[in-house]
Amino acid sequence: MIIVTGGAGFIGSNFVASWLASSDEPILVVDKLTYAGNLENLASYRNDARLLFQAADICDQPVMEQLLQQHSPRAIIHFAAESHVDRSIHGPAEFIRTNVNGTFSLLEAARGYWGGMTAESKAAFRFLHVSTDEVYGSLGEQDPPFTETTPYSPNSPYSASKAASDHLVRAYFHTYGLPTLTTNCSNNYGPFQFPEKLIPLMIMNALEGKRLPVYGDGRNVRDWLYVADHCTAIMEVLDRGRIGEVYNIGGNSERRNLEVVERLCEILDELRPDAGIGPHRSLVSFVKDRPGHDQRYAIDSGKIQRELGWRPSVTFEEGLRRTVAWYLDHMDWVRHVRSGEYRRWISLQYGSGEPSK
Ligand code: NAD
Ligand code: TYD
Repeated sequence: MIIVTGGAGFIGSNFVASWLASSDEPILVVDKLTYAGNLENLASYRNDARLLFQAADICDQPVMEQLLQQHSPRAIIHFAAESHVDRSIHGPAEFIRTNVNGTFSLLEAARGYWGGMTAESKAAFRFLHVSTDEVYGSLGEQDPPFTETTPYSPNSPYSASKAASDHLVRAYFHTYGLPTLTTNCSNNYGPFQFPEKLIPLMIMNALEGKRLPVYGDGRNVRDWLYVADHCTAIMEVLDRGRIGEVYNIGGNSERRNLEVVERLCEILDELRPDAGIGPHRSLVSFVKDRPGHDQRYAIDSGKIQRELGWRPSVTFEEGLRRTVAWYLDHMDWVRHVRSGEYRRWISLQYGSGEPSK
């Protein structure tokens, strides 16, 4: 069996779905269920004996050790993290706690567990660390995309905390021989993404006739990957990746933020024409830029393509359409995840006054 940390979050829950669609090997999801983790994301598997769930904090090393002893996984896929850049600007401490200290605790627990395995199981064990392209910093318009050897240059507390965790994973391979794999992926989008991130936030605001808050001039570029393609890439890396190696994963879909928002508006105009709102793009509103906003991210996925034959299968156009359709069909899910904590965040980030208590 495998352990998936953060499996109740956006990418983790999509990974669980991809895994169980192609394998009968059981999964233990270990998740603290922060504001971003939601058991409803795993509701389809409520009666599926292949999926186990344990509420736990990855910072709690004794609990991580106990779970490893109890379940004897052959791999850990480590998604658990604080993941939203804007939140890391308002409150970096939780990012250091979970992303740095939590990854450290998990690595320590894994090292102890792995050290006690038979030689054969030791060789087969994998610790797969899921990371981001943001660790490489910001690109200019003409710069070549990030490769696995691009120097680290994180600019936000989020990316700095992920960079630190990547370095720890690297060190555990080089120092202790723990069989690690690291993936650095570009921006994901798709079902179950928490509506604080660009694409679901814009879909929900547009549906409700609220302004669409584009930071700065909207010319920042992100490389978008449909989440199911990210999950396939992780499975390929787990299966056939070379231990100690890093694999960059990208969507080959660089878009300016304003282009993304305008395309979403066009899809919504088509799927939800609403006379009261008019063309959805009339809701676009340029707002104060994010401090230290990285200009451009772009990924060179040549290594994973060459070594593992992976490439994205869903075009940006198709993925965006599927994503809008998913949110339209899952308004209940949106209602449930927009808790008091969500409203507090929206008021802090976009409102004019202090957050409501
Ligand atoms: P998410 O915020 O949707 O989910 C994170 C999950 O981790 C949640 O279920 C949360 O409850 C859990 N969690 C948080 N702190 C925890 C703790 N201390 N102990 C146990 N569980 C904890 O994030 P996501 O977008 O699904 O991202 C998953 C991983 O992928 C992260 O490591 C992120 O850095 C990385 N990543 C994300 C993207 C993206 O575009 N979303 C791109 C590249 C890499
Ligand atoms: P986000 O989804 O937060 O991902 P990341 O910062 O990790 O790339 O944001 C994607 C881009 O969209 C980023 O350039 C910031 C921008 N953005 C807005 O313009 N408005 C918003 O309300 C949000 C949340 C993001």
